[in-house]
Amino acid sequence: PRSIYLTRHGQSEYNAMHRMGGDSPLTEIGRKYAAALGEFFKKEKIPDLRIWSSQKIRAAQTAREVASAAAHVEYWKALDEIDAGICEGLTYADIEQRYPRQSEDRARDKYHYRYPSGESYEDVVSRLEPVIMELERQTDVLVVGHQAILRCILGYFYDRPLMELPYLDCPLHSLVKLTPRAYHCDSTIYKYDV
Ligand code: F6P
Repeated sequence: PRSIYLTRHGQSEYNAMHRMGGDSPLTEIGRKYAAALGEFFKKEKIPDLRIWSSQKIRAAQTAREVASAAAHVEYWKALDEIDAGICEGLTYADIEQRYPRQSEDRARDKYHYRYPSGESYEDVVSRLEPVIMELERQTDVLVVGHQAILRCILGYFYDRPLMELPYLDCPLHSLVKLTPRAYHCDSTIYKYDV
């Protein structure tokens, strides 16, 4: 049976500063995770593994480490992280201080809440539709994405209610292996200590 592998990029400079979004490169810790991921796939020797990455630098840097062990990387704009609009580059604490109403609105309905000049989880789910359709048709694929992106893809394969998607646990430096069966998905989680 074929599998879908899902991971966030390695730790980025913004992650280390608790800032949202942006387009920063990997930290040294993030590069270690990318290297470990590359080693994992080198050992797995999956013939015709496809690698799909977002177009953000941190994801591309992570995906490239695996590319040496497999095929080329395809970059999908649809895999880019949720656009936090006016909150991009801020920390959660900054947002609470600068835009307290936004924090409240988001806490009330995180799935439908749309950042001013940005996106909601609902928007992300709709832009991921073509990616998910392709994932359904493919053989083995590794997706290198972001927190909100992985939550939406996982939620789809785990068949979770939409309102739960924004809360699914998707930490950095973990790889989820999903193997679709007739009526459910088997999953294995590999956690890396880097
Ligand atoms: O902080 C990392 C990050 O990927 C941000 O870029 C993104 O806005 C956020 O996580 C998504 O998580 P949440 O929806 O819980 O804020």
